[in-house]
Amino acid sequence: MSTQQDKRIHFIGAGNMASAMLRGLVSSGFKPGSLSCSSPAEAETKRLVDELGISASADNLEYLRDCDAIVLGVKPQILQSVCQELAPFLASADRQPIVISIAAGTTTQSISSWLKQDPDLLPLVRSMPNTPAQVGMGASGLFATAAVKPDQKALTQEIFEAFGIAVWVEDESQLHAVTALSGSGPAYVFEFIKGLADAGVSLGLQPDVSRQLAEATVAGAAKLCAVSHAEEIAGLQRKVMSPGGTTEQGVRVLQSEELTATVRRAMEAARDQSLYLAGEGPALAKN
Ligand SMILES: NC(=O)c1ccc[n+]([C@@H]2O[C@H](COP(=O)([O-])OP(=O)(O)OC[C@H]3O[C@@H](n4cnc5c(N)ncnc54)[C@H](OP(=O)(O)O)[C@@H]3O)[C@@H](O)[C@H]2O)c1
Repeated sequence: MSTQQDKRIHFIGAGNMASAMLRGLVSSGFKPGSLSCSSPAEAETKRLVDELGISASADNLEYLRDCDAIVLGVKPQILQSVCQELAPFLASADRQPIVISIAAGTTTQSISSWLKQDPDLLPLVRSMPNTPAQVGMGASGLFATAAVKPDQKALTQEIFEAFGIAVWVEDESQLHAVTALSGSGPAYVFEFIKGLADAGVSLGLQPDVSRQLAEATVAGAAKLCAVSHAEEIAGLQRKVMSPGGTTEQGVRVLQSEELTATVRRAMEAARDQSLYLAGEGPALAKN
């Protein structure tokens, strides 16, 4: 057991993302007795209590005493009211827990002001996890304010690595790029898997056979890429492409149709929408 795994962690909210994180924490060795959540959604909290053996309450303040970390796991639109509820607790707490927000598009500046805390003194992490967290394969981007201490950063890293990989960005504005890449990325990959599967059917495969092959090909290629970490992706691609072979013909079409430029335009659109939702950029044409 790592030194972090008996730390007390409370989740405000018990929805999709908080549940995925709690499942990851328990399965990676964090003690259920040190984990808790709160939410008005009784069915969701009961399921987590029964499944994981953690504690839960409908009262957001009940389990905050002696917490090492408080995870804000509610929707962005109710984050302000939740923060206002927590503010008196933080003002009177003997020791300052780290506050970790998973809310998309809400700045550390806003969260600090809603918590009535000095942004230079509040240990606050803003994160962008993604939905593969639900199967223990999340990819999270993390930003820490200056007040986050090294041990709090280590605890945060371990929390997010309980359900995938976690990387730190140095500038909060880089979370817009993280949102466009790993936050929205699962949907781009689903689109690609759908394209493979549909095309397989049009070439004569049964739908279930085609979908299985498409899913396993994407998962297998991603795994191969990850374990060949230092190797250039172009090098991995060349290994599949023998001169005059089938793959060369397929890749030639993808390149002539500018797949990489299309992906870049998709990410720029997602980044621009992230800026717009954060009040930092203009509305896109379709808004
Ligand atoms: N899902 C994703 O892909 C994803 C990815 C990255 C980040 N995020 C972020 O994760 C956060 C949660 O998203 P989600 O998909 O997990 O949402 P969700 O499933 O709707 O979960 C939100 C939970 O908060 C509860 N809640 C509502 N009001 C509350 C209050 N006053 N105090 C405590 N809990 C309250 C909800 O209960 P009720 O159901 O009764 O309202 C629900 O259990 C969001 O901020 C989102 O931006 C999500």
